[in-house]
Amino acid sequence: MAYVLGIDVSTTGAKALLVDEKGAVVADATTEYPLSTPRPLWSEQDPADWWSGVQASIKRALAEAKVSAAEIVGVGLTGQMHGLVLLDKAGQVLRPAILWNDQRTGAQCDWITHQVGAQQLLAWTGNRALTGFTAPKIVWVRENEPQIYARVAQILLPKDFIRFKLTGRYATDMAGAAGTLLLDVKARTWSQGMLRALDIPADWLPPTHEGPQVTGTISAEAAAATGLRAGTPVVGGGGDQAAQAVGVGAVQPGVMALTLGTSGVIFAPTAEPVIEPQGRLHAFCHAAPGRWHLMGVMLSAGGALHWYRDALAAGQSYAEMDKSAAGAPLGAEGLVFLPYLTGERTPYPDPNARGAFVGLTVRHGLAHMTRAVLEGVAFGLRDSLELLREVSGQITQVRASGGGARSALWRQILADVLDCELVTVNVTEGAAYGAALLAGVGVGVWPDVDTACQRVVRITAHTAPDAARVGRYEEMYRVYHGLYGALKPSFDALTGFAVG
Ligand code: XUL
Repeated sequence: MAYVLGIDVSTTGAKALLVDEKGAVVADATTEYPLSTPRPLWSEQDPADWWSGVQASIKRALAEAKVSAAEIVGVGLTGQMHGLVLLDKAGQVLRPAILWNDQRTGAQCDWITHQVGAQQLLAWTGNRALTGFTAPKIVWVRENEPQIYARVAQILLPKDFIRFKLTGRYATDMAGAAGTLLLDVKARTWSQGMLRALDIPADWLPPTHEGPQVTGTISAEAAAATGLRAGTPVVGGGGDQAAQAVGVGAVQPGVMALTLGTSGVIFAPTAEPVIEPQGRLHAFCHAAPGRWHLMGVMLSAGGALHWYRDALAAGQSYAEMDKSAAGAPLGAEGLVFLPYLTGERTPYPDPNARGAFVGLTVRHGLAHMTRAVLEGVAFGLRDSLELLREVSGQITQVRASGGGARSALWRQILADVLDCELVTVNVTEGAAYGAALLAGVGVGVWPDVDTACQRVVRITAHTAPDAARVGRYEEMYRVYHGLYGALKPSFDALTGFAVG
């Protein structure tokens, strides 16, 4: 039997997932690591923690599956996108990695937009400058840590640092590269215009590869550190959202992935590069070769429910919260929840956006509030879907995954609010599974990404929208949609108040 290994360098831990040639998961090991916030708005990790986590997870997965290293025919990488890893010319890490959820680069985003021009930025990269993306982080280091910047010889994304440790090679994948704001997303090549405008040396960036393309092989040193066989091919893989989409089979236009993790993501594959005229949706390359995708990212989705449970519904399990919310009426008797608890990205790239319950009365109790949280997240995703419907073709199916998609109530609310059929699939292991499939395609276990998905991903449940509820949610959504604009001045004032 042949096996493929997917490695996910996520924000919380390193996952090693071993999958056999029929698509069955035979081992799944995760090693957690810390995240540090040395100052308000900062979010950093030590790349050495990723590497020790990856080594530990691979060893545990191999031991758990009792599979010999010689049977593992390929390795695929995925991980948190956008993070900045800086290396010197000896390949040593120069400072902690600055992560995707770090918000320190507001001024650098403004500078980039001004320097390049908003329209040119969209034309070159398909995106606008956001604090999460990599390029503003590079500019921040140049402005604030010139002694470090002077020693930079290589820029890598988090999973590509692991690739370097595994293979000794510098390389990245198209989906990950698109999230740097330095890729010409249409041409699938680094944008010389961006590099010139931002004065970033082109030779600091690694070569780009398609998701299933082999980028190197496991080195003798990495084999000794992990238990893998030296010479095992390592493919490009993909940023976590693209790999997640492969893992649930969202690879063809019309089949959208909806992921309800801490964040909430809608991901729509496109056959051509499609750009939202104001850059409100991310336009990135897909991990499936020669395809692209549009994406809306809501920063607090499952995260909002998690916060709510800890802060207000203490003691309740998610199942109990579901049950109580199911007892509250649609629209929670006129209560709306805004889920912007950690600022927002799509459709409002606004670090000052805040959460709110609007419409509370003495009749409202916990059940109403829980329902309002579930509905508020669905309305937030609807905001992204509206943009998507404006620029992209018909969505025929939405494949829901992530922890939140386990709730039948939440899936029903989403189907009704989005007015779309939702399906769930047999694969629940997320991005690491997609990375394993990409590895399998790269080494010939499956002929291409579409076939790999068709062979291993099966639909397990359907949730259809109900016409009457769709109509009622439509009215409620209009109220929700108006609230951000109405409250924006208050959000700004409150943020000023909080920081003093
Ligand atoms: C995607 C994004 C997140 C991170 C962390 O744009 O910011 O998905 O990759 O998971």
